[in-house]
Amino acid sequence: MPPTTSTLNQRIRHFYDASSGLWEQVWGEHMHHGYYEPGEKPKDRRQAQIDLIDKVIEWGQIGDPQPPESILDLGCGIGGSSLVLAQRFRAQVTGITLSPVQAKRAQERAAAAELSSQVQFQVADALSMPFESNTFDLVWSLESGEHMPDKQQFLAECYRVLRPGGQLMVVTWCHREGSLSPQEQRHLQRIYQIYCLPYVISLSQYVHLAEQLGFDRIRQADWSERVAPFWDEVIASAWDWRRIPAVLRSGWITLQAALGLGLMQRGYASGLVRFGLLSGYKPRQQLS
Ligand SMILES: C[S@@+](CC[C@H](N)C(=O)[O-])C[C@H]1O[C@@H](n2cnc3c(N)ncnc32)[C@H](O)[C@@H]1O
Repeated sequence: MPPTTSTLNQRIRHFYDASSGLWEQVWGEHMHHGYYEPGEKPKDRRQAQIDLIDKVIEWGQIGDPQPPESILDLGCGIGGSSLVLAQRFRAQVTGITLSPVQAKRAQERAAAAELSSQVQFQVADALSMPFESNTFDLVWSLESGEHMPDKQQFLAECYRVLRPGGQLMVVTWCHREGSLSPQEQRHLQRIYQIYCLPYVISLSQYVHLAEQLGFDRIRQADWSERVAPFWDEVIASAWDWRRIPAVLRSGWITLQAALGLGLMQRGYASGLVRFGLLSGYKPRQQLS
């Protein structure tokens, strides 16, 4: 049986409360894939993660022609993207996460970067956000959509809080198009279990939901080949013997996540796991 939303949210909260400190210590402030051009020489993992943010901004044509003034970083982790976006666009950024540990750490990082007046973090559920409708110029969701137990409600909330003319930029784990074999479904179930995901959908299903909600100028891209090399890097660093005591200290939940790395690597290799981008705009003229 799928978990109820409140049980799932508690698990997600616990997962990130327990693992974020170690993640930051080992891998830095960005909790998402890195970006690799085809044939690109091996590069620093953190640089690859910064490159992903740059490439998403470029692909999404964010700030063109008008830089966003107010941004929601939905599923903000410890504020990796939030600080980049605040600096890049000189924007006000609000980050939300289910994890109090992440929200606190993100606020500390904003203070250290002297961005406290521009960037705020809070614990809030993306499926029922504590914001007025028509508030943000940009809703940015980098690798949080896969955690959402109701993808339709997730996009509907994004739509609601966007200002007319505002942009949604979602980057999320997906599965391949078409129907999945029982073996593929079992593979995904193991990934869901380890990373606290209710389920993932295909990119075309996201596009369909966005169309139904009324988003305009919808674009999509599949960057699976661009991000798959990331898992080789993460696996190599996770099993560096100097880090094993820290993984063990941070508990079973983090150890499981480390053990799940091979599942992601094989999921990309077989084409089952996909990495999707979706951009769309809330129309300026609302249909009545
Ligand atoms: C893989 S982390 C990505 C963090 C950040 N976007 C980054 O790239 O560094 C997923 C994030 O989504 C958040 N999240 C998951 N479900 C959520 C929900 N229902 N409401 C708000 N945040 C959620 C988690 O708390 C976590 O911060």
